[in-house]
Amino acid sequence: MKRRKFIGSTLAAPALAQTQVSSKPALLGGTPVRASKFPGWPVQDSLEATGLEQVLRSGKWGRGTGQTVARFEAAYAEKMGTKACLATANGTSSLLIALGALGIGPGDEVIVPPYTFVATINAILQNFALPVFVDSDRDTFQIDARKIEAAITPETAVLMPVHLGGNAADLDTVLDIATRRKLTVVEDAAQAHLAEWRGRKVGSFGRVGCFSFQASKNLNSGEGGALISNDEAFIDQCYAFHNNSRRRNTAGSDFSYLSRGLNLRLTEFQGSLLLSQMSRLEAQSKTRETNAAALTAMLERIPGIVPAKSYAHCTRNAFHLYMLRYDPAHFAGLPRAKFLKALQAEGIPGSGGYSPLNREPLLRNTLRSKGYQRIYGEKRLKTWFERNECPVNDQLCQEAVWFTQTMLLGPRTDMEQIAEAISRIQRHAAELAKS
Ligand SMILES: Cc1ncc(COP(=O)(O)O)c(C=O)c1O
Repeated sequence: MKRRKFIGSTLAAPALAQTQVSSKPALLGGTPVRASKFPGWPVQDSLEATGLEQVLRSGKWGRGTGQTVARFEAAYAEKMGTKACLATANGTSSLLIALGALGIGPGDEVIVPPYTFVATINAILQNFALPVFVDSDRDTFQIDARKIEAAITPETAVLMPVHLGGNAADLDTVLDIATRRKLTVVEDAAQAHLAEWRGRKVGSFGRVGCFSFQASKNLNSGEGGALISNDEAFIDQCYAFHNNSRRRNTAGSDFSYLSRGLNLRLTEFQGSLLLSQMSRLEAQSKTRETNAAALTAMLERIPGIVPAKSYAHCTRNAFHLYMLRYDPAHFAGLPRAKFLKALQAEGIPGSGGYSPLNREPLLRNTLRSKGYQRIYGEKRLKTWFERNECPVNDQLCQEAVWFTQTMLLGPRTDMEQIAEAISRIQRHAAELAKS
C-alpha cells in the first residue's frame, strides 16, 4: 500500500436514523433530534474514590514520599511500549522539560504544525526558540510532512509533529527526514493516548513523546502530563529538570546541581487518579473507534461533509476529537457558524476548532519583544512572517467542525442522531440560511 493511501471505511453505510419527530429544524421551531445530554466526563466510581482515599490517609501526598506516581510511570511505560516514563505536572510542562533537557534555546528553530493547541508553541517561545510552521494536510488535519524538508535551515534543531485529535501524523516521513537531516523528533502526543502507527504507540517513535492528562483528555487527572522515551538516560535528565535540577535518588542534604530545572512534579493524588482511569482507557478507546467508524460511514454519504482521514499506517486513531470539513456550498451557502448553531439547537454540540496559530497576535507580539529582537535581529524576524504562511491551514480553519471524544462514548444511536441532525440541516439549509 502506498504511504499516503488512506484507510477507507470498511463498514457498509447503514441507513440514517428515521426519527419520529418533526423534520423541521429545531432552530426554526422543530423538535430537536436529541433531547438528552451526551455522556459526561470523566467517568469515575468507587475505584477512584478508594485510590484517592488511600493516598489521603497515607499522608504521602507528594512524589518522593509515596510510590503512586512511580507505579503510574511504570504502568504507562509498559502500556506505551517504552523503557521509561516520567510523569509531569501537565502536558505543557512535558514539552518544556523535553525542550529544556535537549538544551533547545535562543537561535534554535523548531518545526511545528499550525493546526495545534497553543501550548505546543508556548513551550518553544518560553525557550526563546523560533517556531517554524509547516502547512497542514487538509485530508488528515495533520502537519503536511511532505513540506517539512523545505522548511529546514541550518538553525533547525527539532521536528515536533503533533498527533492532533488522536489521529497520527505521518511518522514515516517525519522520521525519514529526521534521520537524513540529523534532527531530533519530539512528538506532541498530548491528544493521542493509545493512538498507533504501524502497530506501535505514537509518542514512542521520537527521542521523546509528550502527553497531557488535562481534564478533557482521554486519560485525565484534572491536570497532568508525561514524557515517554526508550532513552532511559534522557528520562533521567528530564527527571532532574522537572525536579528543580535535583537528580534521582539525591540525598536530602545534597545541594549540588548539574543543570537548570523547574518544579514540574505530579502529585500522588493525580498518580492515583491516573492509575484508576487507565483501567478504563482501553475499553473507552474501543468504543470511540467503533462509534467513529459508524459515524464516518454515515457522514460520508452526506455531500459537503468530509470526515478527517487517517494515513494508511495509522493503525489506531485515539479519537480525542472527531474532525470533519464542512462545505457550505452543499448547504445552500449556510455559513459554518450558523450550521453549528443549528446543530446545537438539534442537541448536537460541535465547534469550529482552532484558528490559524501562525496568525495569532501572540506571535507578532513575542517576535517584536526586546528579547526576540536582540536574539534574532529585525531582518530575520521580518522574513519569519513570509516563511510562515500556511494557506491550506487557513482554509482548513474555516472548514473544520469538531465533536468531542465524549460524544463517541455512548450507544450507536447517538451516531445516528448526529448524522440525522446534519441531514436535517442540509434538507432545510436554504430556509436556515434565510432565517
Ligand atoms: C496538542 C497539545 N499540546 C500540548 C497541550 C498541553 O497540555 P496541558 O493542557 O496539559 O498543559 C495540549 C493540551 O490541550 C494539546 O492539546
